[in-house]
Amino acid sequence: MAQLTIRPYEPSDKDAVIALWRERGLIVPQNDPEKDIDRKFKVNPELFLVGFVGDRIVATVMAGYEGHRGAINYLAVASDCRGCGYGRKIMAAAEDLLRARGCAKINLNVRTTNSDVIAFYERIGFTVDEVVCLGKRLVSDE
Ligand SMILES: CC(C)(COP(=O)(O)OP(=O)(O)OC[C@H]1O[C@@H](n2cnc3c(N)ncnc32)[C@H](O)[C@@H]1OP(=O)(O)O)[C@@H](O)C(=O)NCCC(=O)NCCS
Repeated sequence: MAQLTIRPYEPSDKDAVIALWRERGLIVPQNDPEKDIDRKFKVNPELFLVGFVGDRIVATVMAGYEGHRGAINYLAVASDCRGCGYGRKIMAAAEDLLRARGCAKINLNVRTTNSDVIAFYERIGFTVDEVVCLGKRLVSDE
């Protein structure tokens, strides 16, 4: 199996990253991916990771930490690389970065339309919390 190498996102990655998110169905009308990337680049950009096989971007994860909980967004692995362990590996890299910052727990959201992915998260140690997630949009991207 080809080795996944992981490093922080760089601006020249943008087109490939957005193409990967589009291919994996992570782009929805309410979230403009370019704006999401630009916002992330201003706040802890070192927690936004990309994974390569050779010179091709095949995995991403956008982690965050606000001093209490860690967050995970835009986790994606290219369709033709599914099941190679890259999702587990890039999540482990994000968890290492969060742990090093003192983060005690990660909270993440899964869209109800994407509930199949819950089995993946359970395989890598997550459990379903008995909470209801609420959101309030402060800036419209549409
Ligand atoms: C979810 C995703 C990141 C998994 O990446 P991946 O590289 O295929 O996962 P891995 O190969 O690292 O799998 C890790 C473990 O989870 C298991 N697993 C992966 N996907 C699974 C699924 N859909 N159902 C059940 N188990 C799954 C694997 O069998 C493996 O188990 P093991 O290591 O104990 O043998 C990838 O399928 C993806 O990009 N999905 C679309 C985007 C998405 O939904 N992102 C999350 C938004 S919340």
